[in-house]
Amino acid sequence: MLKYLVVYASETGNTKQIADEIFYALPSDSKEEINVRSWNGRHDAETYFIGYWVNRGTCSLEIIDLITSLHRKNVAFFGTCGMGNDPDYYKSVESMATVWLPDDNRYLGSYFCQGSMPVTIRDRYEALRPKLGDSAVDRMIAIFDEGQRHPDKKDLLRANVFTDTAIRKIPTANDYSKIMDIF
Ligand SMILES: Cc1cc2nc3c(=O)[nH]c(=O)nc-3n(C[C@H](O)[C@H](O)[C@H](O)COP(=O)(O)O)c2cc1C
Repeated sequence: MLKYLVVYASETGNTKQIADEIFYALPSDSKEEINVRSWNGRHDAETYFIGYWVNRGTCSLEIIDLITSLHRKNVAFFGTCGMGNDPDYYKSVESMATVWLPDDNRYLGSYFCQGSMPVTIRDRYEALRPKLGDSAVDRMIAIFDEGQRHPDKKDLLRANVFTDTAIRKIPTANDYSKIMDIF
């Protein structure tokens, strides 16, 4: 069994960039990175980093299938979405995955950042001007334009730090032996 498996869904490459950084940060040769479309249950690991992008308010069925299949694993989530810099929104994005995670796994936390979106979405925002008014649409466009610069170097650095923080939550054999010393 592998020590670490990074599995991601990514349509336009943003989430894959984060997956690549997490994979790079993992301190072991016993690791693999795969697109969720190639995941088939034969890939197994002690620790999973599972990445997704937010698509119309949720994550893909393939990701949900993977999460619900996991038992007695260490699990962390990561991903990208259209919005940035909003911890409350990131909490709701996190819950899209945690809600499916069986209780017998050890949850290591999550990391999310903003990702760029196709320009067709900007055009759709513009078309909403008559309905929503200029100030609302200007705010949406500003978020969109900021997103075009993400994930950036800082996002990748934060993903790297997150990886380190997450794996420190996994008890080591040494931790277990200290517990056994008590008895
Ligand atoms: C069809 C579509 C639907 C989207 N829906 C949402 C959404 O509901 N909420 C959100 O925050 N971002 C949404 N986004 C933005 C994506 O989550 C964002 O662009 C993400 O970084 C894409 O990741 P990827 O490059 O790994 O595919 C949507 C993007 C597309 C193209």
